[in-house]
Amino acid sequence: MRGRWIAAAMAVAGCDAGEDPLAGLVLVGTDPSDAPIASLDADWAERFAAGDALFEAPFREAGGLGPVYVRHACGSCHADDGRGPGIVDKFVRVEADGATPAADQSALEWGNTARPHVAGGAVTPLVIPDLPDLLVTSRAPPAVFGRGYLEAIRDDEILRVADAQAARGDAITGRPNRVPWASEARPDARFHDHGPGDDALIGRFGLKARVATLDEFAADALQGDMSITSPLRPDELPNPDGLSDDLKPGVDVDLEVVDLIADYTRLIDIPARTPTAGDALFSEVGCDACHVPSLRTRADYPIRALADIDAPVFTDLLLHDMGRAAADGLLDHDAGSSEWRTAPLIGVRFLSTLLHDGRASTVAEAIALHRADGSEANAVIDAFDALPEPDRAQLVAFVESL
Ligand code: HEC
Ligand code: HEC
Repeated sequence: MRGRWIAAAMAVAGCDAGEDPLAGLVLVGTDPSDAPIASLDADWAERFAAGDALFEAPFREAGGLGPVYVRHACGSCHADDGRGPGIVDKFVRVEADGATPAADQSALEWGNTARPHVAGGAVTPLVIPDLPDLLVTSRAPPAVFGRGYLEAIRDDEILRVADAQAARGDAITGRPNRVPWASEARPDARFHDHGPGDDALIGRFGLKARVATLDEFAADALQGDMSITSPLRPDELPNPDGLSDDLKPGVDVDLEVVDLIADYTRLIDIPARTPTAGDALFSEVGCDACHVPSLRTRADYPIRALADIDAPVFTDLLLHDMGRAAADGLLDHDAGSSEWRTAPLIGVRFLSTLLHDGRASTVAEAIALHRADGSEANAVIDAFDALPEPDRAQLVAFVESL
């Protein structure tokens, strides 16, 4: 069965004959950051394996790669389901304060994302333009493990936490990113019934929580990172050569490819944790106000192991103002320039860089960088800094054990 899926993965990716797209793929079960959630039935287990193959497979021109793209495989930015090595460069024209987006963005006619590679008949890449008022930032990919738990969380849990924060009377006031369904209709409602015209969905995915579901994120990533079109996102990205199609005419992959990739990200477990002391300190200083240790999931989530459980996600999925130093000048629906989703503390030990642009390389550095002019986290970081050194070390060790 698995062989059939692997052959199918090679075919959709348009791999050259004789080339093994799965070279280097770590087989399920041997890698702690790529393990499926426990006790899946055979059907889900098969979808996990097939989606895993598609996630690793490099797409080629024959498979619809291009016109412009950033990298040619999901796994090249989410290696071992973690962060990087690939990253995405963003740019925006800003006011003199260096953070407020300028009213006139018309010079950036191809958008805010660098797509430095061409394929499928294109010749002109999308590079960072040379403009004096440009703010250029990087987005480091979040990990994809444990994301099914995030999708399964009940909407009213997220709103409950937002209300509780509003009632605190201090600086911590997270809010959900309310986002539209920005894709074509699905023919079925296997995980949700969102469709065109729906808005005010609670965004959960992306560094600014700009997408509500994992199937939409898979379609968005296929289109946005690789210019692979699908029934959910049938249009090629606007590009300087004005191409409306690539060398593979029409939609590049069918919905089943999107769903297999989405299901894979739904089914990767939270990497196994060995609890260490430090959870009490984590709450004592107030990290848990935003990095909420657990949230309840929907009873009707289709993956039974994730339904109606306390999901240990260490996030509130809300946007927080992290201060001027964190501003990137980009607005994602309701999310402002310096607002970011509380990063889920899942598998932090597998990440070589931390924070949305990867500018921290240790947990201690990431904590220190929560402090900025205007950051909601400042008082919590004061409390952290006031701890005796052995307690700070214990708290950091706890975060690294998550
Ligand atoms: C060029 C690098 C790159 C490639 C290729 C890439 N991603 Fe990503 N991925 C990112 C970045 C950067 C983000 C954060 C995006 C944002 O904040 O909008 C992200 C975010 C995600 C998220 C959201 C995770 C979370 O916690 O919110 C998922 C899921 C995801 N990617 C899946 C995929 C899939 C599936 C593919 C292949 C179809 C893929 N990615 C290809 C860079 C990449
Ligand atoms: C006001 C809400 C808030 C509080 C309080 C807070 N954080 Fe965060 N944390 C965030 C947000 C938002 C991010 C993402 C910021 C970014 O990407 O730039 C984040 C990111 C992180 C990261 C990086 C994770 C990754 O995947 O890159 C770590 C580690 C972290 N926080 C630990 C802590 C610890 C430990 C504390 C307590 C000392 C704490 N945080 C307090 C909101 C908060």
